[in-house]
Amino acid sequence: MKTQVAIIGAGPSGLLLGQLLHKAGISNVILERQTPDYVLSRIRAGVLEQGMVDLLRKAGVNQRMDREGLVHTGFELAVQGRRVHIDLQGLTGGKTVMIYGQTEVTRDLMEAREACGAFTVYGASNVQPHDMKTDSPWLSYEQDGETLRLDCDYIAGCDGFHGVARQAIPAESLKTFERVYPFGWLGILADTPPVNEELVYATHERGFALCSMRSATRTRYYVQVDAEEKVEDWSDQRFWDELKSRLPADLGARMVTGPSIEKSIAPLRSFVVEPMQYGRMFLVGDAAHIVPPTGAKGLNLAASDVSTLFDILQKVYADGRTDLLEKYSSICLRRVWKAERFSWWMTSMLHRFPEADDFTRRIQQTELDYFIESAAGRQTIAENYVGLPYEIVQ
Ligand code: APR
Ligand code: PHB
Repeated sequence: MKTQVAIIGAGPSGLLLGQLLHKAGISNVILERQTPDYVLSRIRAGVLEQGMVDLLRKAGVNQRMDREGLVHTGFELAVQGRRVHIDLQGLTGGKTVMIYGQTEVTRDLMEAREACGAFTVYGASNVQPHDMKTDSPWLSYEQDGETLRLDCDYIAGCDGFHGVARQAIPAESLKTFERVYPFGWLGILADTPPVNEELVYATHERGFALCSMRSATRTRYYVQVDAEEKVEDWSDQRFWDELKSRLPADLGARMVTGPSIEKSIAPLRSFVVEPMQYGRMFLVGDAAHIVPPTGAKGLNLAASDVSTLFDILQKVYADGRTDLLEKYSSICLRRVWKAERFSWWMTSMLHRFPEADDFTRRIQQTELDYFIESAAGRQTIAENYVGLPYEIVQ
């Protein structure tokens, strides 16, 4: 089989890139290890920056998002019981974010891909990239016990943090940057009305908590837990009690509780690999970088990588601009590091660090106080939260 762009992974990165390429008349095939149902069973983030919303519109996959997504013009910080409004719209000259679950984005992209007849191989095992440093890279993979070959011009490694693309690059060609945090997030999904119209990021002596949502009737709530906590030890009741204990009293009092539909613990990590390309293979999204979820940046960074790679490939095929190919990594990394910094900062400000001494805790509280009491500080938070601009490819 031969295609122009071979994509590994049918998560949001691979599907969105595939859709944009297809619309631009550039052929592509996606090889995905899992089944579609498995991909859709993963509950992930839910805050889309304007840049990602615009990109989904460009891909023509926006009808349900525009109908069902919730536009949020601000969010709240709850600091030791005190509620502070961050007016995203007012502080950024009118920018907002869209609340729409990653699972729904993925479902919409899958349906669009099926409707336009673009080819996806699900259940592709042992995918391996070859000859990335030549003009004729290719992928080998197995399906139903048969070994197959996909020839292409370029490979997009959209296969997430545990994928094969990054691992196929010789270790001496990559530099990795990593920080693992000594805690995780225990999250639940429940069919209860959100406790507040806007998201609430709460910091408290007992630890961080986040009240998010998927719709007017479905909530997504999190509490910080120790890294070694087991989800089996958290009954729904224990979760609700812990969450309420970390929120301002008025919010806790009006919290509607109910049975969880999903409950899981996610570790927190910052990770970047440089460069994000090797010959004719490009790393996109979680394959190249991970952020802790505190800034809601993971999915949005995947979208900005996709936008950059799409713009480059389009100019390569339409105008012969092969000079742009070597710019992919540096363009992406400038934005990636800014989102890494913001996610690290939000995490550092809002969580309880078990090993912090008294001095460090006072500095942490004071830095947060300073930012929320200063108009400049609130503006800095807001402009990062709505998303920094995408760099123009030229
Ligand atoms: N071969 C084929 N497919 C693979 C392989 C492999 N060896 N390894 C992983 N995959 C698939 C996974 O099954 C998954 O469907 O690649 C896909 C990667 O998807 P994600 O992990 O969702 O990564 P990405 O598409 O970059 O999505 C952006 O940002 O912060 C996060 O929550 C956010 O998951 C989201 C991500
Ligand atoms: C979510 O809704 O899952 C969510 C929202 C905001 C975050 C992280 C997760 O910062």
